[in-house]
Amino acid sequence: MTEHGYILTNATVATMDPDISGPYGLLQHTDIAIENGLICWIGAQEDTPAKYKNLPRHDMDGRLITPALIDCHTHIVAGGNRAKEFEMRLQGASYEKIARAGGGIVSTVKATRAAREADLLADALPRVDALIAEGVSLIEVKSGYGLDVKTEQKMLRVARRIGDLRPIRVRTTFLGAHAVPAEFGGDADGYIDQVCIPALRAAHTEGLVDAVDGFCEGIAFTPPQIARVFDVAVELGLPVKLHAEQLSNLGGAKMAASYGALSVDHIEYLDVSGVQALAAAKTTAVILPGAFYTLRETQKPPIDTLRKHGVAMAVATDCNPGSSPISSLLLSMNMACTLFDMTPEEALAGTTRNAARALGIKDSGMIKTGLRADLAVWNVKNPAELSYRIGFNPLETRIFKGEI
Ligand code: NIG
Ligand code: FE
Repeated sequence: MTEHGYILTNATVATMDPDISGPYGLLQHTDIAIENGLICWIGAQEDTPAKYKNLPRHDMDGRLITPALIDCHTHIVAGGNRAKEFEMRLQGASYEKIARAGGGIVSTVKATRAAREADLLADALPRVDALIAEGVSLIEVKSGYGLDVKTEQKMLRVARRIGDLRPIRVRTTFLGAHAVPAEFGGDADGYIDQVCIPALRAAHTEGLVDAVDGFCEGIAFTPPQIARVFDVAVELGLPVKLHAEQLSNLGGAKMAASYGALSVDHIEYLDVSGVQALAAAKTTAVILPGAFYTLRETQKPPIDTLRKHGVAMAVATDCNPGSSPISSLLLSMNMACTLFDMTPEEALAGTTRNAARALGIKDSGMIKTGLRADLAVWNVKNPAELSYRIGFNPLETRIFKGEI
């Protein structure tokens, strides 16, 4: 029993466990016993049970330990880049205008279709490594730059391969309803019926799909169009989530909540009735400050209303080549605080406990007996420092399934 075990001793632990009172569920002078990749005990140093007393001990010297971070919304697998569009936006073109002129998502689709699987993987890995270096142990990766049966599967295969090549868990989300590809000439309904739904069924048959997402927006799909995809997700037993209310309010969040969605993401234009629908459905709100910042939006998500209604809030990078070319979850936490007035505690809950919720993951996101030993050890003492610093990475060590 003690063979694959050890104790992290003398730590400051932000458990993020709501059952432990006080900010961050913080515990001082704490020991964590780890065996076989799991947290098997946590408590005050002097209370360590006898059966763990002989395990090797690693002195943390008061350092902060948090759950390893979780990036619950990325498009980290994508062909090419959109630096050109960045330049166009700086000259005054809007994200929507570029998209309607055949740029935007559709331009990444062209590059992703043309890319070899090995090249997509080679491009994605450095971005993944940047997240791992910040203590991330779990990422969600979406398809949605294929928009045909073959390329959607190619993206999901590459995403899954990341988890074989790197010490990180990967959850894959099918995002066929991301944009209408050029060959459909604006026929969104035709695309949904003839490609998106068959692509979802095919990817699911290959075992490549953990959840189903869509982009509900004027430049993408209407709520009824997304609902047709969600109906198939329900039939296949897959959970749903939605990019909603990013640039306008089409009522996508409410529609997603009616399907018991795991999360709705972006939600800058969400109104009070939308917030109430999320609260009732226990849907997590995923806040993506990187996209808001990059697109220089001015409409902020309704953080205070979400807070008042008790909606769980997650924070993610939205790492993608267009609206959020960000591979730093720590920077996203800082932005969530500085741009949206989230508290550092909410930002950390957003990349741990609530990020796990947004993915339907129950075995990590907190430091608690029985959960996976996915932990981050930081060279700071106060957890607010994780959101406070900019461009500085205080990670000392990441522990992945008990492996230091
Ligand atoms: O989450 N909003 C839609 N999808 C992505 C943007 C993708 C892109 O521009 O390539 C997002 O921001
Ligand atoms: Fe996104």
